[in-house]
Amino acid sequence: MAAMGKTVIPIAASRGALPIPEARRDAGATPVDALGRALRDLRISVTDRCNFRCTYCMPKESFGMDHEFLPHAELLSFEEIVRMARVFHALGTAKIRLTGGEPLLRRGIERLVGMLREALPQVDLTLTTNGSALKAKARALEAAGLDRITVSLDSLDDATFRAMNDVDFPVARVLEAIDEAAAAGLAPIKVNMVVKRGVNDRHVVEMARHFRGSGHIVRFIEFMDVGSTNGWRMDDVIPSAEIVRRIDAHFPLEPVEPGYRGEVAERWRYVDGAGEIGVISSVTQAFCSDCTRARLSTDGRLYTCLFAQQGYDLKGLLRTGADDGALEQAVRGIWQQRTDRYSEIRTAETARARKVEMSYIGG
Ligand code: GTP
Ligand code: 5AD
Ligand code: SF4
Ligand code: SF4
Repeated sequence: MAAMGKTVIPIAASRGALPIPEARRDAGATPVDALGRALRDLRISVTDRCNFRCTYCMPKESFGMDHEFLPHAELLSFEEIVRMARVFHALGTAKIRLTGGEPLLRRGIERLVGMLREALPQVDLTLTTNGSALKAKARALEAAGLDRITVSLDSLDDATFRAMNDVDFPVARVLEAIDEAAAAGLAPIKVNMVVKRGVNDRHVVEMARHFRGSGHIVRFIEFMDVGSTNGWRMDDVIPSAEIVRRIDAHFPLEPVEPGYRGEVAERWRYVDGAGEIGVISSVTQAFCSDCTRARLSTDGRLYTCLFAQQGYDLKGLLRTGADDGALEQAVRGIWQQRTDRYSEIRTAETARARKVEMSYIGG
């Protein structure tokens, strides 16, 4: 969509929202979708902004200086986020992850964590960050009630990492932030590395070696065709099985049972007891059949798949005075008619389709 010489990338495939389906009567509290999957996890994107321009997520050609981010009034307020979190929790959601963009750029994020913790003392509350602002905020986040944290780090090689984040951000600062987060008690820390052929795949073993024995868990993620701006090609994907083979050749690995049903990462541990790693194979071994995740976008739309083309406008309902019962019924109705299984049915054509950008919907 070009507007008067400015490049405006549509963050959602269409600004129109899907009509909210009516809920069927349901005996249990937790809604189950059309393929038998319960609603268990909620991922909330708190900002569409990020200070990195990772080439696989917010490439500069699409997210340049003139990119228009959402105006503040479009963002869900903290009160609205907490209200939606309560609604999901009442429907059986036990896990909430704050994402972005970069969630630590949202002003007062510690206050939001505190508000969520107070409202939902039992919920597993986590956050995924690029680590750039984490050193300063780790202790406040832990004190506010954050349980765990996931930090993205694509290479330990400084030149490679600076090129991948494309804002010249150094590895050392992310490593310092990881140490600070661990010292603050946000452990075990998960470290996400997106692996792209010919870009950082030669650093996989080094990454494994660095974090062996640290108590942190590195997860190697297959480069995915999220959004429509990252120029995804199947040739750039290193299959997870290959990653496991490469690490196993240096440090023998054995499989670990999933920690819970629907866990995204396939777990492996070092035979010598130096800890574990994970691989996330959304391209070569789709895990849609167990997908229990809903995603609330920065501007309050509900997406039932990471690769969705459109969402449901829950903010519209919130702001026109819907009570909690009506919000619950809306979420129940949306979930009950869900049939998403994008990664299982990916084709070259669907990979090219306009999909919502990752920075708007969270990872
Ligand atoms: P924990 O087990 O609670 O630590 O969380 P998690 O495994 O869900 O981890 P995280 O949220 O860090 O997810 C890791 C990465 O997996 C994300 O950044 C995405 O790249 C990918 N991912 C997560 N959920 C999905 C999903 O539903 N579909 C696909 N295709 N990829 C996903
Ligand atoms: N493929 C795989 N993972 C991605 N992430 C962002 N874009 C992609 C992509 N195209 C990951 C980031 C981060 C999380 C939020 O999502 O590395 O760990
Ligand atoms: Fe920012 Fe994370 Fe996307 Fe990189 S992957 S541009 S750090 S939101
Ligand atoms: Fe879930 Fe969609 Fe990812 Fe499949 S592709 S696991 S349905 S988010």
